[in-house]
Parts: sequence; structure tokens; C-alpha cells
Amino acid sequence: MMTFNYSNPTNIIFGQGQITAIQHKIPASAKVLLLYGGGSIKDNGIYQQVTQALSENSVLEFSGITPNPTVEHLDKAVALAKAQSITFILAVGGGSVIDGAKYVAAAACYNGTGWDILEGKHTVDKALPIGCILTLPATGSESNTASVVSKAATQDKLAFLSPTVQPQFAVLDPDAMKTLPARQLANGIADAWVHTCEQYLTVQEGAWVQDGYAEALLKTLLRLANTFEQQDDQWRANLMWSANQALNGLIGAGVTQDWATHMIGHELTALYGVDHARSLAIIQPSLLRNQLHLKQGKLEQMGEAVFGLDAGKDLAERTIDAIEAFYHKLDIATRLTDYGNNKQAAVEAVLAKMEAHGLLAIGEHQSITLEESRTILQTAI
Ligand code: NZQ
Ligand code: ZN
Repeated sequence: MMTFNYSNPTNIIFGQGQITAIQHKIPASAKVLLLYGGGSIKDNGIYQQVTQALSENSVLEFSGITPNPTVEHLDKAVALAKAQSITFILAVGGGSVIDGAKYVAAAACYNGTGWDILEGKHTVDKALPIGCILTLPATGSESNTASVVSKAATQDKLAFLSPTVQPQFAVLDPDAMKTLPARQLANGIADAWVHTCEQYLTVQEGAWVQDGYAEALLKTLLRLANTFEQQDDQWRANLMWSANQALNGLIGAGVTQDWATHMIGHELTALYGVDHARSLAIIQPSLLRNQLHLKQGKLEQMGEAVFGLDAGKDLAERTIDAIEAFYHKLDIATRLTDYGNNKQAAVEAVLAKMEAHGLLAIGEHQSITLEESRTILQTAI
């Protein structure tokens, strides 16, 4: 196990009926900017619960944050936050709204062009405080330091990390999930699955605790997929909690991490608008087969511990087959061609973007060169 320095300062407020707790978490004197997406929170009553809880506060609203939020749209919220001297950002939504809130919170405290943050030209050292109400369990953004923002003009999708944008609190009310379409629920399970794999499916390095937590999360996510048609309060609570734990820093502390599937997947989303989780399902099986010689030990461990496969011949290959079957069980495609024809052009376009973004040697061993990425993408056709 490597040395690490871990803390997760986000206060998780978990359970049904907990949205009302935000009135005790946001100072009465705060001038709040309420951020949300395309309106699902108005259809399921969450908006009404939030505005009721904030009845003592001064609240401004900014809506219309889209999946894969764009800097072009978010910069309007930045201008509003600056002009109105906002002191607190409340994000109500999924990963896109929360990531958008992190960008707005950071850019509102910066006098330059906000995109500098995504390009690494400005290191965020100050941000407005953020709280969030999660409506879609998937990304873990509600209690981590990451934000992913796109630039529509150039089809770039980049990330930044800063402890200053980690939410102070996150309300995880599983009832918020009741209006989620099956497609988004499946996306959430798949995204949390890949987050866990990116931190687990690397090298065997004797991190028994992290491995054990990761395997518990993977087994939970597998069980959620296998019981997808039997959703109840318990099912929703377990999805919300496991997706949170998959990317809150805990299972990744002190272990080697990968993230290559995400790096390639982000380019697919930026260019073609493929849902984030679905981009990962296209790339991951192909990437694992390509990197099998380096990941064999961990794949075999996962095969036995998570899928209950018999030890013996071709265990690593059988584990990858089981991972692919997991996506299919969720009705998630694992081939580029499932999204249309002429995918050779898409492969070249993704590779050009990866080159422009300096993704020339990725994965836990930096063994995925541009040529290997080409092979991975071509095998995914
Ligand atoms: O906009 P509304 O109307 O709210 O509709 C949303 C959106 O259309 C809908 N939705 C959310 N909650 C709902 C609901 N519909 C009905 N009932 C509810 N309760 O779901 C749609 C998708 O929402 P989105 O926030 O885009 O999904 P997700 O949470 O999967 O977030 C994806 C974004 O997060 C980034 C991705 O790249 C992508 O941009 N990621 C962020 C990470 C992080 N910050 O740590 C890590 C991830 O790997 C990922 O990259
Ligand atoms: Zn993800």
C-alpha cells in the first residue's frame, strides 16, 4: 500500500425526507444561487421542497444546465454570481449540475477566463461554498473534488480537481430517484461500476481493505443490475450509497489507479454526445482485453471474488466476458457500431482529440499509447 493523506469533509445527509435539513446547513444570511438542470426537479416535487426549506434565505435561480455541462452556459451563471455577490451555491441535480456548480463556484472567484481552470492555466485556490442535493446517483461528484466541463465550440471535455470545490454537504434522499428513467438508473450503476474498476482493476499490491471495499461495491452494483426490475426503497438506497462510495476517495486511497477508460470515453462523449456511462461501457471491455497481460492478476481476483467464477483456465478472459454481460443485462451497448455505422472515422476523430489533449501514455502503467488506444477503439467497433 502506498502512503496517502485522506479526508472526506462532505457531510452526507442520507435518507428519505432529508431535504428539509438544508435549512440548518446554509447560513440564514447567505445569498444563495440555486442551480439546476432541465426541469426534472419541478416535476418530482424536489424544487418545491428546496424552496420551502430556503424560505428564510435570499435565493436566485439559474437553470437549464444540460448533461455534459458547457462552459458557454455556465459562464452566464458565473456572471450572475459575480453581479449579485452570491455567497453560497446550491446544486440540485445529477453529476452535470453538481460539476457545473463546482465550475461556477471556482470561476466566480477568478477574474480571468473561466476555461483557464479546465486548461490548467489557473489553479483554483478559492471558491464559493457549495452544498448539493443529489437526484441521480452515478458520478460521486456530490462528495468529491472533481468537475468535468465541456466547451461546445471546440468539442472539448476536460476536468479539474480542487479541494476548494468539494461540497460542504450532500443530501442523498433515495426518493429523489423515483422519477429517474431506466436509462439513467442503468447509467448510474454502470458509471459507479467503472469508477470502482478504475481504482481496483490495476495491480495486486496487498491493499486488502481497499480491495475488500471495492469488491463489496462491485457485488452490490452487480446485485442491483440483477434485480433491476424489483426496485424498492432498499434497492434505491443501496444504489445511492454505493455510487457515492465508489468515487469519494476512499477506495482509491493508497492504491494504483487507472482512469484510461474515462479518458477515452470522455472524448467519445465530447464528439458524439454518447452518455458518459455508455461511453465507458464501449471502451472498458476492449481496453481490458488489450491490457490483459498487465491486469491478469486483478481480473482473476475479481472473477472469483465478485462473479464467483471457478478458478482455472482463462479466468481473466471469463471475467471480462462477465463484465460485458453485466452491461448487456443493463441494456447498455458495448460496441461503437451499436451507435451507427462508419465508425472508422469516429476512431480517428477520438485519437486526434486524445493527441491534442496529450493523452499519449495512459493507464496505470502508462502502457496505453496512442497506438494501443487505436487498437482498443478498433476492437470496440
Ligand atoms: O436536467 P434534468 O431535467 O434534471 O434531467 C436530468 C438529465 O437529463 C436527468 N435527471 C437527473 N435527476 C433526475 C432526472 N430525471 C428524472 N428524475 C430525476 N431525479 O438525468 C439526466 C442526466 O443527468 P446528468 O447530471 O447529466 O447525469 P450524471 O449524474 O450521470 O452526470 C454525468 C456528468 O458527470 C460527469 C460526466 O462526465 C458527465 O458530464 N462526471 C463527473 C465526475 C465527477 N465530478 O467526479 C466523474 C464521472 O466520471 C463523470 O465524468
Ligand atoms: Zn464516470
